[in-house]
Amino acid sequence: MLFADVVRSMDIAAKVGAERLREIMTDLVERSTAVVRRYGGTVDKFTGDGIMAVFGAPTALEDHAFRVCLAALDIQAATAELAKEVQTRDGTALRLRVGLNSGQVIAGEIGSASYTAIGEQVGMAQRMESVAAPGAVLVSESTARLVQNVAVLGEPEQAHIKGGERPVATRRLLGIGDHHSRRRGESKLVGRAWELNTVAAILDEAIGGSGCVVSFMGPPGIGKSRMVREAAAVAAHRGIPVFTAHCESHAGDIPFHAVARLLRAAFGVEDVDADKARTRVLELFPEADAEDHVLLHDLLGVREAPLPDIAPDARRRRVTALINGAALARQEPGVYVIEDAHWIDEASESMLAGFLAIIPQTPTLVLITYRPEYQGQFTRLSGVQSLALRPLSDGNTSLLTAELLGDDESIGALTPLIATRAAGNPFFAEEMVRDLSERGVLQGDTGKYRLGDNIAEVAVPATLQATIGSRIDRLSATAKHTLSAAAVVGSRFDIDLLADLVDDADTSALIEAELIDQVRFTPKAQFAFRHPLIHTVAYESQLKSDRATLHRRLAVAIEARGSVDENAALIAEHTEAAGELPAAFAWRMRAGTWAINRDIAAAHGSWRRAQQVADRLPPDHPDSLSMRIAPRTFLCATAARRGGWRADPGFEELRQLCVATGDQRSVGIGMVGVVASKLMNGHREEASRLADDHVQLLESIGDPPLTVGLLPMALLVKHETAEMAEILRLSQRLIDLADGDYTKGNLIFGSPLAYGVTMRGAARASLGIAGWKQDFTCAAVSARDVDAMSRASVVYYTYLPGIALGLLRPDPTVLAQTAEAYEAATQAGEDIALGLTEAVRSVAVACQEGTDRGAVVELLLHARERVLDQGVTPPIIDCYFAREKVRLGETDGAIELARASFDDQAGADRCIWIVLATTVLVEALLTRGTDKDFDEANAAIDRLAAAPTDPGYVVNDIAVLRLRALLAQARGDVESYRAYRDRYRAMATSLGFEGHMAMAEAMT
Ligand SMILES: Nc1ncnc2c1ncn2[C@@H]1O[C@H](COP(=O)(O)OP(=O)(O)OP(=O)(O)O)[C@@H](O)[C@H]1O
Ligand SMILES: [Mg+2]
Repeated sequence: MLFADVVRSMDIAAKVGAERLREIMTDLVERSTAVVRRYGGTVDKFTGDGIMAVFGAPTALEDHAFRVCLAALDIQAATAELAKEVQTRDGTALRLRVGLNSGQVIAGEIGSASYTAIGEQVGMAQRMESVAAPGAVLVSESTARLVQNVAVLGEPEQAHIKGGERPVATRRLLGIGDHHSRRRGESKLVGRAWELNTVAAILDEAIGGSGCVVSFMGPPGIGKSRMVREAAAVAAHRGIPVFTAHCESHAGDIPFHAVARLLRAAFGVEDVDADKARTRVLELFPEADAEDHVLLHDLLGVREAPLPDIAPDARRRRVTALINGAALARQEPGVYVIEDAHWIDEASESMLAGFLAIIPQTPTLVLITYRPEYQGQFTRLSGVQSLALRPLSDGNTSLLTAELLGDDESIGALTPLIATRAAGNPFFAEEMVRDLSERGVLQGDTGKYRLGDNIAEVAVPATLQATIGSRIDRLSATAKHTLSAAAVVGSRFDIDLLADLVDDADTSALIEAELIDQVRFTPKAQFAFRHPLIHTVAYESQLKSDRATLHRRLAVAIEARGSVDENAALIAEHTEAAGELPAAFAWRMRAGTWAINRDIAAAHGSWRRAQQVADRLPPDHPDSLSMRIAPRTFLCATAARRGGWRADPGFEELRQLCVATGDQRSVGIGMVGVVASKLMNGHREEASRLADDHVQLLESIGDPPLTVGLLPMALLVKHETAEMAEILRLSQRLIDLADGDYTKGNLIFGSPLAYGVTMRGAARASLGIAGWKQDFTCAAVSARDVDAMSRASVVYYTYLPGIALGLLRPDPTVLAQTAEAYEAATQAGEDIALGLTEAVRSVAVACQEGTDRGAVVELLLHARERVLDQGVTPPIIDCYFAREKVRLGETDGAIELARASFDDQAGADRCIWIVLATTVLVEALLTRGTDKDFDEANAAIDRLAAAPTDPGYVVNDIAVLRLRALLAQARGDVESYRAYRDRYRAMATSLGFEGHMAMAEAMT
């Protein structure tokens, strides 16, 4: 029951005169009546100042309560529009109060009056109206109860009503949420009982605390979204909130699109302004620090503060941790829906995959829908209940068709015809019936059709697409134009964007034709295509040139709204669809820049798209070559940042393009990634040869900042191959060119100079040249102020060789430094930085005496896993594992592990870690101590002594002395032992290798 009344109509009359008032009222009544009809209600009577309308029988109570709410909000919106006109023309305010109530009413003919409703409930609706604020909709408790799961309601308030004794409870209707179980004209569910029962049972378990992810898979129109709606209705019925994110066909390349939507829904910030959204984040995450808040703001699109300097990996880890933490702490059950995952963007997908992994530990049900073509991460998650929806059975298809058509005799032969054609696809059946009804072949209403006279027209289009197409064809020109524009905006669209594209948008005709639904009412109207396929057909059936024009205008409209960087990917999408390639290229590159600090995979996605656009440019375009080069350069340069080598980023192609233009710089930059991935994949020698080429190229270009910026790559490679003389030369070159500036050339490496100084220290130490310790100290000090990745590298390349090669003693300072760097990498570093610091920290801890060995093993295991995750083999960590095994008495296992590591290193041409592997192997063999073990140890030491090295390379020699001493001691050859020990001691002292000095001292 709906009552609407104009506020102070007498005042208006006094101002504009009775004649004009009548005009205004007529207009108002007409608009309101149209709205009421649209939602299936009847206007019962005009009350002079307003209207009374009834929504009710024969549909269920909940449904009509929902419709009355929709109508009330729309009437207010229509009034607001009219009020604008009245304000301009008459200078007076027009406002409406609306009251709603639900309950049994007596309706029918009363005396001479036609259809009317009377009774206590009618009076209640009127009272609601009388105490409503101007412009507002007030609902009674009974209506509120019926719609509380679908509507946004204000706090309950007590209202004193004239003449009433006691105050009555009221609530203000603020809007309609996203989830209504039933849509207008939705057919009764047939079949799928098993699926629905399964989901209901899983929901029960989820409520009990063991959550679950359920996916529905099947072709378009088969009923996936319907299953989700049914499940959501079950949840809503139990008072469990449902949060939904729809992935969209045009948003697959827009990073974080889906996850941002889901979070906005879950945080309840969909309809609020940026200020409120930020306050909400603060309320939801009171414990998180300010940086975390900014990361969340950025994801939700409401960031105000500058984006902190945090690597994308760290950002992902932190946001995931926050969301997972909140989900784990959550006591109340919830349902999350990810619709149409076949269109999800990669960044959202990987972030959500992390979230889905913890669902079993929470009272949460997650529902995912996707079409069969989707092969992404969600299909591979463990513990997902996957339900493949098959076509409805013949029986059920007939049932559904009969349900849609009704049982009028004239229908007879039509039911089997439609059922056969639909072939178990319920959407096809629905669309065929709609088509026939629109064509007048069927007359009457859903479920009560009669065959009209037009029997000749019974033929139905052969495919679902054609059926939808012919329905669209029948729209009026305005409606068709509106639909076309809407389809260009997307499968969900705001009224304002639509208004930017068409002057006279007519959404009500489209709602009427059941092509779109209104899904949001406040603060501004939002609509959605009733079905993704309708969207697709509406989009594809347009003339290409018309569509391009719409895309172009849309791109301009979005750009004009601000937040241009955030929207760069979206604007790129539309510019590209408009066929404006150079502009699309620029937007894609801009989107890549935006993403580079947020998600490296997303940045790669943008660059790949930019590359495709550039490749489509006509060859005579003046910038075509440079546009083809730029994205390839970025892709190659950062290829290794995604951890190892995923797909060939196209370096060869880049090189050839650059030859054509003489652009050597781009080759130099792109090559960094190629060298890095070779190294990460364990191809040390190849990486070293490539690094030589790289250095030569840089020297031939002769651009100092570029040389400084890219030399670190060669240093990292040569460190692995122990080419220390070359490192000494290159690092000195870098240091000279950088001239004390720690940020010079920070193109790829945050602080090239920090790498240079560290590496010179490493080279000096291994070549026995004084000054190495100062280099290490200097690098450690400077590392405090550089980015997380450079800092991680400095710590790694100082302390790992420092400890493993016996240069430094793993004292508490080392422990503190490595722990600090690990912490910094956790907060702000890429996964690679985290891997490096975790490795060095676990080694530092392992070298502490008096530490809990169980904890050490845990740390090493964790570090090992992380390194493996990045596709890197963990020989160093394995060496320390072997040592722990010796401590635990598992000598055999230790020897096996150490031997594998030794073979790996000794098999290589040159390798810095062979000394560590040999040491651990020999120590383990000596512990077991059979004659055969002694022989093997001896052979290993000989091999180390014979390993090819640069002249003056001392780290192997000193270790050989120590190991020979230990072997002699084990064999009981006291004399040799003493001789080796003394030489060892002397050498350690003269080199100042503190680790070795301590070990030598300990030898008696
Ligand atoms: N079992 C059913 N009984 C009655 N109607 C159904 C049934 N399943 C689906 N429908 C109806 O068929 C139409 C299409 O279903 P739905 O939107 O769920 O398809 P979908 O699988 O999500 O397709 P898409 O992949 O295109 O999103 C809807 O109007 C829905 O109400
Ligand atoms: Mg769907």
